[in-house]
Amino acid sequence: MTERLAKGERLSKAEFIDLIVNREKVDREKLYALSRQFQHEHFGKRVFLRGLIEFSSFCRNDCLYCGIRRSNCNAERYRLTKEQIMSACELGHELGYRTFVLQGGEDMHYTGEVLEDIVRSIKKSFPDCAITLSVGERSTEDYKRWFDAGADRYLLRHETANEEHYKKLHPADLSLKHRMECLYELKDIGYQVGAGFMVGSPFQTPETLADDLLFLKDLEPHMIGIGPFIPHHDTPFANEKAGTVELTLFLLAIIRIMLPDVLLPATTALGTVAADGREQGILAGANVLMPNLSPKDVRGKYLLYDNKICTGEEAAECKACLDNRIKRIGYETVTDRGDSPRIRK
Ligand code: SAM
Ligand code: FES
Repeated sequence: MTERLAKGERLSKAEFIDLIVNREKVDREKLYALSRQFQHEHFGKRVFLRGLIEFSSFCRNDCLYCGIRRSNCNAERYRLTKEQIMSACELGHELGYRTFVLQGGEDMHYTGEVLEDIVRSIKKSFPDCAITLSVGERSTEDYKRWFDAGADRYLLRHETANEEHYKKLHPADLSLKHRMECLYELKDIGYQVGAGFMVGSPFQTPETLADDLLFLKDLEPHMIGIGPFIPHHDTPFANEKAGTVELTLFLLAIIRIMLPDVLLPATTALGTVAADGREQGILAGANVLMPNLSPKDVRGKYLLYDNKICTGEEAAECKACLDNRIKRIGYETVTDRGDSPRIRK
């Protein structure tokens, strides 16, 4: 079946389920060699870096899996000022980052106008850099004004493409339909768009994963963020099991083969469940890393899950550490915007 995927064929839902259920029969070395072949064809052995600025831990939502959900009264809340965000970008620029990812909870303190001003200022000071926003479900008007201000990309994981599963992970006021509408809208506006999901989230099954893969094939996002679900002790899923490295690597490889030129991060969550998780992710087909660029004093407060790595290091230490890790596996981190090969603004 992987050969058919490699030819660009669309597998049926039953075939995807079969592939996932019987994945121990798939020769992993061969699978990763195939996914690396596509990775090398489109990106060489170059790994793109994104400086991640987690600018707000306030969130109006109450997703059951998330450590900064509204009803977690133990979560420490903070907001970064425009000046703090600009200083983080300045440091990131010095370190060689040419993409800044502004991520936060759905925090309405950052109105359309406030975030527009921040986007414009970053673009003015760092015209050679791309800006990725990841601030959840907002109005069409906001999405448009941020794009017009210069934002290039938008990350909005769909979380699960299965309606029933979505309802088990989210409160009733959130809907899969609306999340998907946002993704199509963002794409229409002109953003490079990222979807994705957690691997091993509670109630996930081979069937829901097949729905995810089919949705991704249809949406054809420019970026796909997948990483293991990791429980957070102050959420309703505190006692659930974390997703595995094994399944995450398998899915990274399948996604690389199915959508060969997609930008695919080896996530911090993958680096949290295994010390060499991010390196293994690159060797399975990922080509992006998102090191933390938030000021050190707030890093320990953006805790989506337990035992998150890189909360104590300075940005420069993270960069040096990642450069080394990537070099050791025969790849190189590069100073480049790292746009999707499919779009250039
Ligand atoms: N508020 C924005 C949004 O909703 O897209 C961005 C921030 S949100 C915290 C970023 C992502 O973190 C989510 O899309 C989710 O997949 C991931 N995440 C949240 N809780 C997690 C957990 N316990 N384990 C792994 N990933 C998690
Ligand atoms: Fe941050 Fe290794 S990547 S310390």
